Amino acid sequence: MKILVTGGTGYIGSHTVVELQQSGYQVVIVDNLSNSYASVVDQIEKISGIRPDFEEFDLCDEKRTLDFFKRHSDLDGVIHFAAFKAVGESVAEPLKYYHNNLQSLILILKGMQENGIQNIVFSSSCTVYGQPDELPVTESAPIKEAWSPYGHTKQISEKIIQNNANVTDIRATLLRYFNPIGAHESALIGELPIGVPNNLVPFITQTAIGLREKLSVFGEDYNTPDGTAIRDYIHVVDLAKAHVIAVDRLVKNKNQKQVEVFNLGTGNGFSVLEVINSFEKVSAQKLNYQIVDRRPGDVEQVWADTRFANDVLGWKAEKSLDEMMLSAWNWELALKKAK
Ligand code: NAD
Ligand code: WQD
Repeated sequence: MKILVTGGTGYIGSHTVVELQQSGYQVVIVDNLSNSYASVVDQIEKISGIRPDFEEFDLCDEKRTLDFFKRHSDLDGVIHFAAFKAVGESVAEPLKYYHNNLQSLILILKGMQENGIQNIVFSSSCTVYGQPDELPVTESAPIKEAWSPYGHTKQISEKIIQNNANVTDIRATLLRYFNPIGAHESALIGELPIGVPNNLVPFITQTAIGLREKLSVFGEDYNTPDGTAIRDYIHVVDLAKAHVIAVDRLVKNKNQKQVEVFNLGTGNGFSVLEVINSFEKVSAQKLNYQIVDRRPGDVEQVWADTRFANDVLGWKAEKSLDEMMLSAWNWELALKKAK
C-alpha cells in the first residue's frame, strides 16, 4: 500500500510517516520545506530503517501537483497535512493562508480525481468549534464563526471535501486534532518552531533551556479551577497512530460513510498551570513564568469527547501528560546537543 503524505517533513507529518512505515506502508512525502527541513527525511530513516521517497515542491503549483498525481496514479491514499498553521500570522496575512491552505487542497482533490485515487485523510482542528457550548465537545457540535483566517481555512476545507465527496467517489476522513504536543521517544524528530513559538509547550521548553527569558501565562481569570485556560493536549505519536488507523479504514473500505469526522484528543482537559507543573516535575527544572493578560482570541476551555474515535475508529490516546512533557523536554535537549 502506497500513501502520499503531504507536509511529511513537518511536525505531525514526520511522526505519521514513521508510524505508517512501521505498519508496512510505503510512503511518498511531498513538502516544499516552507516550515520544515530536508534533514527530517534522514531522521525518519534513522528511526524506521526505511528512507521515504521525498519530492520537494509547492502543492499550490498546479502543473507540478497534477503531474505528481499522474506519475503516482498507483497511490492508495493521501494524508494531507501540508498547510500554514500560525493563527496570529493568519490574522496579519489572511490571503497567504487562504491561498496556501485552500489552493493546495483543491489541487490535491483534482489530482486524486483525475487519477482514480479515492482516499484522503485531512488534518482539521478543534479550532473549528470555537468555544463550544457543551463540554466535552462532540463531532456534532455546531461549527461556529471562526475567529481567525487559519480556523476559517479549516472550516472551508472540511466543506470543500464534503461538497466534493457528494459528486465524486472520493472518500474522506476529517481528523479534528486538539492540542498536539511532545515528540518521538527517540528524540530524532519533533516540533521545530521557526522563530518565537506561539504554542505553549515549545515556549515552555525553550524557556527552560535558556532560549527565552520567561513564559507569559495568558490569563488567570478564566472560569476554571485555577483560573488558567484549559486544553486537551495529545501526544503527537498517539495522534500519528490514529492516522494509520484512519487510512487503513479507508483503504480497506471499512468506513461507514463517505466522509467521516473524528475528534482526536485524550478526552482530558489540563490548565496552563497543570502543564507547567507537569513540566517542572518531569524535567526537574524550575520554570520562569509570569501571569499576564489574556491572549485575544483564546477560548476559555475545550476538550474532546473521544467516544466516537474510541468506538468507531478503534483508537484511544495512551500517553499521559507527564509522558508528553518529558518527550518534549528530551527533544529540546536533543536540539541543544545537535547545535
Ligand atoms: P508543520 O508546519 O510542522 O507541517 C506542515 C508542513 O507542510 C511543513 O513541513 C510545510 O513545509 C509543509 N507545507 C506547507 N504548505 C505547503 C505547500 N503549499 N506545499 C508543500 N508543502 C507545504 O505543521 P504541523 O503541526 O505538522 O501541522 C500539520 C497539519 O495539522 C496542518 O494542516 C495543521 O493545520 C494541522 N493542525 C496542526 C495542529 C498543531 O497544533 N500542530 C493542530 C490542529 C491541526
Ligand atoms: C495553549 C494554552 C494559551 C502560549 C492553537 C491553535 C489551534 C491549534 C492548536 C492548529 C492557551 C496558553 C500559550 C504562551 C500561554 N492549532 N499559552 N502562554 O491556542 O489552544 O491552539 O494550537 O489547528 O488552532 O489556535 O494552543 O499552545 O497556543 O495555547 O499561556 O506563551 O496555553 O493561552 O490557553 P491553542 P497554544
